[in-house]
Amino acid sequence: MAGPDDDAIDPDELRAEQRDRWERSADGWRASAERFNAATMPVSRWLVDAIDPQPGERVLELAAGIGETGFLAAELLQPGGTLVSSDGAEAMLAHARARAEQLGLRNVEFKPIDLEWIDAGTAEFDGVICRWGYMFALDRDAALRETRRVLRPGGRLALATWTEPDRNPWAMVTRRALYDAGLIGDLTLPPPSPFDLASPQLLTELLEDAGFADVRWDEVELRFPSASVEELFEETKNRSPAFDDVVSALDARQLADLMERIAEQAAPYAQPGGGYLLPGVALVAAADA
Ligand SMILES: C[S@@+](CC[C@H](N)C(=O)[O-])C[C@H]1O[C@@H](n2cnc3c(N)ncnc32)[C@H](O)[C@@H]1O
Repeated sequence: MAGPDDDAIDPDELRAEQRDRWERSADGWRASAERFNAATMPVSRWLVDAIDPQPGERVLELAAGIGETGFLAAELLQPGGTLVSSDGAEAMLAHARARAEQLGLRNVEFKPIDLEWIDAGTAEFDGVICRWGYMFALDRDAALRETRRVLRPGGRLALATWTEPDRNPWAMVTRRALYDAGLIGDLTLPPPSPFDLASPQLLTELLEDAGFADVRWDEVELRFPSASVEELFEETKNRSPAFDDVVSALDARQLADLMERIAEQAAPYAQPGGGYLLPGVALVAAADA
């Protein structure tokens, strides 16, 4: 007999699909790493300051991607401390490992870890850092409860999400262009999306329900420079598996049309000297276990 949930996506299938997308986008994240990290450094600094890493401590970075935020903390853990840099995608970890070697970091361990099932001991860490990761966990309660479990009593968590889509043209200009071109039917990104934890109230509630205390949050304004529409297109393609899936299937005429629409959407952010400066606002939060 047909039931109301027959069309519901199986969560395990969705998890596998998401993991595959992240695996495929790791090279793109590496390719645009320098520019993305420069633009997002104020968030990384907020997060590292919030966990206040001390020599000898053990810190876990979750959903680390290619690892840059945690590497800032790693230096402060010396001497004697260790950063465990983790991600659900092996290809991201491979880039993180190579980058740590390049930076000459010797106190970093790498481990594949899923946000919802954190493969680490209870109370193993003094701090956890997670930049733009929790929104991608299908069960966010589980991810935050797991995070608290691996923190020692009084251990510190710092995390970043994004505020609402309208406050993040850096991500929405290209999505609006896809919509204008009729290439997607809905402007709202399907869950799990970068904007799923945009409300400080919801985030605070989730953290408190997971047992965290002294939750504080803030907003950090960012600016993403792009020299041209082509660069904006390439960078989005590099970083967003969903965008890449859509544009990879386009023919030359559709692609040309899309570029025009990106130019229209980006026009309000054009700079007098050329290029664009796209704004964004991150939501950052810290709490104690
Ligand atoms: C938006 S990227 C952020 C990467 C990095 N933290 C940064 O700020 O540059 C999201 C990262 O979360 C990872 N991720 C997504 N779902 C995950 C999960 N369930 N468990 C662990 N990592 C996950 C992806 O592989 C990807 O590296």
